[in-house]
Amino acid sequence: MNFSWYTVDVIKTTPPWWHSSIIYQIYPRSYKDSTGDGVGDLKGIISKLDYLLELRVDAIWLNPFFSSPMKDFGYDISDYTQVDHIFGSNKDMFELIETCHGKGIKVIFDLVLNHTSADHPWFIESSSSLANPKRDWYVWQKQVPNNWESIFGGSAWEKSETTGEYFYHTFLPSQPDLNLYNPEVKAEIFKVVNYFLELGVDGFRLDAINTFFEDPLLQDNLPLEIGNHHKLTRFKSNINTFDHDCNFDFIYDLKDLINQYGDKLLIGETNKMGPISGKWTKYLQHKDRSGIDIVFNFDLLYDIIDKDLVTKSIQAWQDNQDHGYPTYALSSHDQLRFVSRLSIEKLSVDETANKTKMLAVFLLTIKGLPFIYYGDELGLPEYTDFTTDQIRDTWAIQNDYSVPTRDGCRTPMLWDNSLSAGFSDSNKTWLPIHENFQDLSVETQKQDPNSILNHYKKIIDLRSNSSVLQTGELELIETSDGSIKYKRFEDGSEIFVILNFEKELVPVDLNTANILDSNNFDLNTKNLHRFGYVIYTG
Ligand code: BGC
Ligand code: MG
Repeated sequence: MNFSWYTVDVIKTTPPWWHSSIIYQIYPRSYKDSTGDGVGDLKGIISKLDYLLELRVDAIWLNPFFSSPMKDFGYDISDYTQVDHIFGSNKDMFELIETCHGKGIKVIFDLVLNHTSADHPWFIESSSSLANPKRDWYVWQKQVPNNWESIFGGSAWEKSETTGEYFYHTFLPSQPDLNLYNPEVKAEIFKVVNYFLELGVDGFRLDAINTFFEDPLLQDNLPLEIGNHHKLTRFKSNINTFDHDCNFDFIYDLKDLINQYGDKLLIGETNKMGPISGKWTKYLQHKDRSGIDIVFNFDLLYDIIDKDLVTKSIQAWQDNQDHGYPTYALSSHDQLRFVSRLSIEKLSVDETANKTKMLAVFLLTIKGLPFIYYGDELGLPEYTDFTTDQIRDTWAIQNDYSVPTRDGCRTPMLWDNSLSAGFSDSNKTWLPIHENFQDLSVETQKQDPNSILNHYKKIIDLRSNSSVLQTGELELIETSDGSIKYKRFEDGSEIFVILNFEKELVPVDLNTANILDSNNFDLNTKNLHRFGYVIYTG
């Protein structure tokens, strides 16, 4: 037998680890405060790893926790490789990685390469004088050269008092864009990435991948495009400053570096990207070069999550194999939590719980890599009771509160029924705690077999024990009622999933002995009620 041929074949068909994984997103400020200052930190996260182990997630993605003046809560970095004191120390970071790995949990860091903080020493030098050697590390112009707008509102050009010139910022004025055309900047950035790779991180979520390079001719953008179907969006886009050709080569080079360290995951993020709007295949691959492994899918982050939207997203993945391996997220640190986007009409407590459970089933049984945003596993709704002085999101403040603050999806995790929901020893937390935390906390939900938390655990267990659900193929089955139906299959095994999005009953023709799990399904009449689901073997 030709063993070398055999080995090559096996390697080719072994899917990468992230095809069968679940990623859990942690917003470090809000997970667990170990120091009593009201802000979460790395030691806090370390103390909760057993919770994540019990939940059986495979990897955690942490939002940035490096030195920052926190104008954009860590997305404005002033030292790429130094943990911000508010989150702890670099020693804590090493410990976090090591402890996660000891428990079999992979660790994904957030890479913010488009911009730094205005407090970064590079920018301080760059803006200090026209002759400074780092002058060209950022994007400077004598006058406002064009109509480019910041994603966060207003002109993308800000005057610097020291030289009277203007610098470009895709996001806040306190987040100046790096000039990635400059090879020195690129080399510095790659050094940073290398540092993390040496630490052993398992992958990166690459922030705002479409904004790295701008048109060097500085030509005007077309009039601002307002998203047509994204009613609840928090972002507007200035499309002509996005997706410049140089982005791709930069990302392929980055991937070459990452590839030297083995099987790492590179996730590309940019708002509004998802299979429905498409447009990112070139970030994945072009000719013989490869870039990101997957895109973070925004399809389900802006609107009410109804049958139509979910079907479109699944269908778009199915129709476009060049979109790469599917991913799904229901919430993130930038958008309204999905539990507050279940329906336009007001739902009862039961309906809310049922639809939350049904969408969790969708997330965890559809083909693709699921992202669970911390707190979603408790069914946390968006926090909306802010008084103006409690709002922290600079974007909302800068826009006179005319955009919904992102603070509402970033409030502290609810651990138990003690002070500050066990998040902190302090009663002064950086964002308020949900008032009804005692109903929602991990402690309370652990004791209730029907809780959202126990539901997530049950479905994750089902998934973890089923290679069909983890890596099986998908067939979307057309329905003429209010349900979504699909089949997962692998090596002759089949699992069917039906989710009823509407009020009308959906009759299901099945042998009840084959049911793996269900909710709101009447075993006698075999009718699936509103927001019910049934999972069964074929
Ligand atoms: C992040 C936001 C951040 C922005 C600027 C986005 O993609 O998710 O939280 O404000 O990038 O870094
Ligand atoms: Mg840029």
